[in-house]
Amino acid sequence: MQGKALPGFRDFYPDELALRNHIFATWRGVAARYGFEEYDGPPLEPLELYTQKSGEEIVGQLYTFRDKGDREIALRPEMTPTLARMVGTRAQALKKPIRWFSIPQLFRYERQQRGRLREHFQLNMDIIGEAGPAADAELLAAAIDVLRAFGFGPGEVRARISDRQVLRTLLLGRGLTAAQLPAAFAAIDRSERVPKDVLAEGLREAGVGSRETDAVFEIAELRGLEAVTAALAKVRGGAEAGEPLAEACRLLDAMGLAGFVEIDLTIVRGLAYYTGIVFELFDAGKSLRAICGGGRYDGLLKALSGVDLPALGFGMGDVVLGELLKERGFAPAASARLDAFLVAVSGEDVAPVLRLAHELRDRGVAVEYGLRHSAIRKQLELAVARGARLAVIIGPDERKAGIAVVRDLGTGTERKVAVDALMHEIRR
Ligand code: HAM
Repeated sequence: MQGKALPGFRDFYPDELALRNHIFATWRGVAARYGFEEYDGPPLEPLELYTQKSGEEIVGQLYTFRDKGDREIALRPEMTPTLARMVGTRAQALKKPIRWFSIPQLFRYERQQRGRLREHFQLNMDIIGEAGPAADAELLAAAIDVLRAFGFGPGEVRARISDRQVLRTLLLGRGLTAAQLPAAFAAIDRSERVPKDVLAEGLREAGVGSRETDAVFEIAELRGLEAVTAALAKVRGGAEAGEPLAEACRLLDAMGLAGFVEIDLTIVRGLAYYTGIVFELFDAGKSLRAICGGGRYDGLLKALSGVDLPALGFGMGDVVLGELLKERGFAPAASARLDAFLVAVSGEDVAPVLRLAHELRDRGVAVEYGLRHSAIRKQLELAVARGARLAVIIGPDERKAGIAVVRDLGTGTERKVAVDALMHEIRR
C-alpha cells in the first residue's frame, strides 16, 4: 500500500498516543520528584558530535545527510553528546551538581528486531558535576522508581550493575594489556549471546593468550558483590577500584531498593564513553531488550567542550517499556473524555446550542455537538460513540422554559435542569 510509514517508524493512532502520553507523564512525574529540570536540544546536530566519542556501534547506525550549506548533519541518535555540549557552554553559570532530564525522539538505523525501532523516545536523566557514588546510587534509584511508578516490582524488572573501572582492574590484574581491553570488553559484553569458541577466536585475533582468555571468561561469570570483591582482592589496586560499586550498593540498600539490584559484570554498554559504574534494567524474564541503560561518563564533557566535569546518566526508551505495559494489560483510554454532548432538536436550536457550547467550553467543560444537524437519534448515537457522559438536549419547548434535558448516557435517566444550573449539573 502507498503511504506506509518507513520501516521502524511508528504512526501513533489515538490509542497508541494515549499510551505514549501516559509514559511521558509518568516519566515527568518521577523526574520532578527527584528535582530534575527539563531541557531540550536540536534534533539535527553536526555529524562530528557523534563520530568523536560515541563509538563505532552507534556511528554505524546514524542517519546522515549533507545540508544545503554543505554541512555534514546527523539526526540525533542519543542525547548525551548534546547535553555535554550544552552544559559545557554554560558550565560556569550553572549550579552544580546539575540535575537535568529530557524526552527527545532519537533516530538509529537499527537492524529490525523486537523492542528496537528506527525512532524512539527516550527519557534521559543526568547528573553533572558530582564524582562520588552517591550520584550513581541516586540515578539508579530514579531509574528503578520510574519502573515502580508504572507498577513494576522486583519480580518483574531487574537492575543489572557493573563498573568499567572494576572490569579494567580485573583484566589488567589478570595479565591483559591496555591495548587488549577493548576486545575483552566486547567479548564480555557478548558473553551471554555468543558461543564461547566464537568469542575465544575474537580474543585470539586481538592477541590475547589462552590463559588470559580463560581469565576473561571467569570475570564475565562473576555475579554478586561478594564474588566481585573476592576477585578484586586478588589483583593490584582491586580493593580501591571496587569501592564505588560497593558504596553504591550500600546506598541502594539504605533506600530499600536492594531487591531490584544484581551485580553482573557482563553489563559493559555499547557506547564508548562510559568510565565507571554502568547499568541496564531488564524485564525479569529477560525476554526483551534492555528497558534502560546508562552509567558514568567522566571524560565526555572535557572531550566535547573542554570543560572537565564528572557526569553520569541513563536513557530509558518508550518501546520495550510500552510492550511491557501492554503485556500486563495496561491500556489507557484514548477517548477525549467528553463531559457532555449537546443535542439540538430543531434547526432553530442550533444557534443556542452553539452559544451554550461556547460558554461551557470557556468554563473548562469538554463539550461537542453534531457538526451537521440531524435527527435526535443520530445525534445521541454520536454522543455515545464519542464516550460522552451526558447528553444535553435543547429544543423549542426547553428554550421557552429556560431549561435543558440532561440525559445520563450510562443509565439512560433524564432530568430537566435550568440552563443557569447546567454547569453545576455537569460537574456533579
Ligand atoms: P542506549 O543504551 O543506547 O544509551 O539507549 C538507552 C535505552 O534507549 C535502551 O535501553 C532502550 O530502552 C532505548 N533504545 C535505544 N535504542 C533503541 C531503539 N533503536 N529502539 C527502541 N529503543 C531504543 C544511550 O542512548 C545513552 N545516551 C544513555 C545515557 C544517558 N547515558 C548517559 N546518559
